[in-house]
Amino acid sequence: MSTLRRVIDPELGADIVELGMVQDVAVADDGAVAVKVALTIAGCPLRVQIRRDVEGRLRALPGVTDVRVDFGEMTPAQRTEVMQRARKKAADNAPATQVPLTTRVIAVASGKGGVGKSSVTVNLASALAAQGFTVGVLDADIWGFSVPRMLGVRGRLGASTDGDRKLIRPHPIPVGSGTIELVSMGLLVDDEDTAIMWRGLMLAKALEEFLQKVAWGSLDYLLLDMPPGTGDIQMALGRLLPQAHMLIVTTPAQAVQKVAVRVADMARRSYLTVLGVIENMSQFTCDHGQSYALFGAGGGAELAQDLGVALVGQIPLEPAVSAANDAGTPLSVAAPTSAAGSEFSAIAARIVEDLLPPVDMGGCTARVLAAAKAALG
Ligand SMILES: Nc1ncnc2c1ncn2[C@@H]1O[C@H](COP(=O)(O)OP(=O)(O)O)[C@@H](O)[C@H]1O
Ligand SMILES: [Mg+2]
Repeated sequence: MSTLRRVIDPELGADIVELGMVQDVAVADDGAVAVKVALTIAGCPLRVQIRRDVEGRLRALPGVTDVRVDFGEMTPAQRTEVMQRARKKAADNAPATQVPLTTRVIAVASGKGGVGKSSVTVNLASALAAQGFTVGVLDADIWGFSVPRMLGVRGRLGASTDGDRKLIRPHPIPVGSGTIELVSMGLLVDDEDTAIMWRGLMLAKALEEFLQKVAWGSLDYLLLDMPPGTGDIQMALGRLLPQAHMLIVTTPAQAVQKVAVRVADMARRSYLTVLGVIENMSQFTCDHGQSYALFGAGGGAELAQDLGVALVGQIPLEPAVSAANDAGTPLSVAAPTSAAGSEFSAIAARIVEDLLPPVDMGGCTARVLAAAKAALG
């Protein structure tokens, strides 16, 4: 068994014993070893690599004359358990951030730029804040930032101190009975020197700085407006905030949907669960009530089905979305009864009530924490 611990599932990044993938090991009198490994999916493309690794390591042991590896498939329940274990392991190894563990984290991602990630981020954040939540917004599209303009924020972020550490203070924006706490590169760089300092950082490193050096405070939700495509920053997110979930934005066009599949794949490999798909720019309804599918139809539903997740909402193409972005007040609060505005609010409600409810601070975690604090005096 200890030898098998060296066999790392290349996809899950943990060893196969710890993950519970080794179901049986039998050693015969003649030194032949038979191992049964359960895979998360039967057709797992990594089986060849796992087999080679298991055989190689066991053959190297003294007394082992032969190795046979059989593969089985996990039941859905076993699969869920393995994924949870892998996620927990990632969480245990994750570097500490200033984001509380009780914060629900949603990364808004897409395969392509221009599909409406930033619009979805600011509208959902506003709709959530309007319900009374404290919502962090991290503009993780580091150099393609557009969130400050869409939320009508200008100016510079201040600093606060925590002991002898200097932290960045997010920009608070009151919305209804809640607040958005915004951090964006657009609110940090005004002079050439800071710009050069930040530009020198790799994007993934910049994300790390934002998560570790911002005094986020207690947030119910944290929304990240991701840069388009897959890459370093997605991987970094999985490492830094393994509790993050991903919302994938796509348009109804087939081509866009294909790229989105790759993002979902990347999400899975960096331990992020995909919360669902949002189809943006769905159909355009003109003043006469006639609807047109300008960007095709069915892409969102198809992608959701491919990924086995929910199609969380379909936001119509509505010029008011764009106008509200330009005016600095997202449509979900500027015109909550408009077609797109009400759809954003409906998605926010679905997140709160069903997909990812806020962590109930009246629940056990809070009680355990309070008890621990009391015990410490
Ligand atoms: N549902 C919509 N209806 C009309 N315009 C939209 C809609 N969603 C986004 N837009 C506009 O499309 C452009 C791209 O959206 P944006 O949110 O910046 O995309 P991304 O962040 O994915 O690059 C922006 O000008 C935005 O105002
Ligand atoms: Mg954007």
